[in-house]
Amino acid sequence: MAGVRGLRCAANASALLRAAKLHAAPLRRAKATAVQVAEAQAQAASSQEVFEREARFGAHNYHPIPVALCRAQGIYVWDVEGRRYYDFLSAYSAVNQGHCHPKIVAALKNQADILNLVSRAFYSSALGEYEEYVTKLFGYDKVLPMNTGVEGGETAIKMARKWGYIKKKIPENKAKVVFVEGNFWGRTLAAVSSSTDPECYGGFGPFMPGFSVIPYDNLSALEEALKDPHVCAFMCEPIQGEAGVVVPKEGYLRGVRALCSQYNVLWIADEVQTGLGRTGKLLAVDHENVRPDILVLGKALSGGVYPVSAVLANDDIVLCIKPGEHGSTYGGNPLACKVATAALEVIKNERLIENADVMGKILMGELKKLPSDIVKLVRGKGLLNAIVIQKEYDAWDVCLKLRDNGLLAKPTHGDIIRLAPPLIITEEQLLDCVSIIKETIESLRK
Ligand SMILES: Cc1ncc(COP(=O)(O)O)c(C=O)c1O
Repeated sequence: MAGVRGLRCAANASALLRAAKLHAAPLRRAKATAVQVAEAQAQAASSQEVFEREARFGAHNYHPIPVALCRAQGIYVWDVEGRRYYDFLSAYSAVNQGHCHPKIVAALKNQADILNLVSRAFYSSALGEYEEYVTKLFGYDKVLPMNTGVEGGETAIKMARKWGYIKKKIPENKAKVVFVEGNFWGRTLAAVSSSTDPECYGGFGPFMPGFSVIPYDNLSALEEALKDPHVCAFMCEPIQGEAGVVVPKEGYLRGVRALCSQYNVLWIADEVQTGLGRTGKLLAVDHENVRPDILVLGKALSGGVYPVSAVLANDDIVLCIKPGEHGSTYGGNPLACKVATAALEVIKNERLIENADVMGKILMGELKKLPSDIVKLVRGKGLLNAIVIQKEYDAWDVCLKLRDNGLLAKPTHGDIIRLAPPLIITEEQLLDCVSIIKETIESLRK
């Protein structure tokens, strides 16, 4: 990367800290703001040094776009050399409310001084309050709080299996869960057991029994699968995020709802990525006015400041799980409860769903004007969109060029680039981003 600033990097951690302190010292006198401190810290290492340290001391389980970020605000992120970028990934839709949203950060800070964690061995004053808020907001009897999205998925499947044995009377250990091709719900062994992506599951067997996979957006395949009386649940994303923002045909979700009801199978909707305003509705299932039996939320449930996930369902399902049968030390902790409540309030009070809808339509209109000899396809809903690049071009290279032009996005599957800015983006900012995208795409020809 060009233009890496030349502060000589200290070779070890304490020297780095000394360097950061040294640079922070003059700022402290002037009452350092968080931004100033971050800038001072950033001086401790160049981008290249950040890349090298991660490569040396961290596992190589990711392949990040080479940009070393040290602070963020709203729709912007800054690298350690002080360059500003539009964030068009939003931490895979966790930062719907924008980075470091002051109300969410304030909720975190306020609660951090009071009570962080009691575990579920005891009651906390924050948990019930949050549970009431979130269940009323989404219209379910109960919530089971967890931390990450994948734990939400695991919880939903455990819940559905229990329900299958208790309510549907499936014989012991025979319960089946049906998934769809291209699904992505995380990285645990159960999640990779349902994956059709060799990168996800390859080398991690043996896999979870009782899982089967059918084509996405195919109601006859679903009906065939649901005829098996041992099926307790069908799990899918209403729009497939990691698969490259794959939007099913209008009517698919209504069909899923009808078939699951007809065959007495629970429909688990994984809205970890699509939920909470991202697609221009509170939930993506709202586009077809349908309601899953089990709803999984995560990511933006905390606005990106803390891992919070939730599984919502009615009593006849949730109460199949008895004390001691499921849980998590951190799930439902007071800090998470306050953060999640603030994050949901921001979505509602700042009308982010409406903004995602309006901005999404503008973005889609503009993306459709991109030259079709380079951009094969554009798709998405609200502010969850993707462009599919023609095979002569490489989505990774496009993302590097976007980065150089001040916009961060990440490719998926080699030819797809997801475009998902925070939902607080204004029209002016969006149009600026559109011109960056246009210029970048057009520059590929030169
Ligand atoms: C639809 C969906 N479900 C679940 C997950 C897993 O979430 P987490 O990474 O928080 O475990 C993801 C992550 O990208 C996702 O996109």
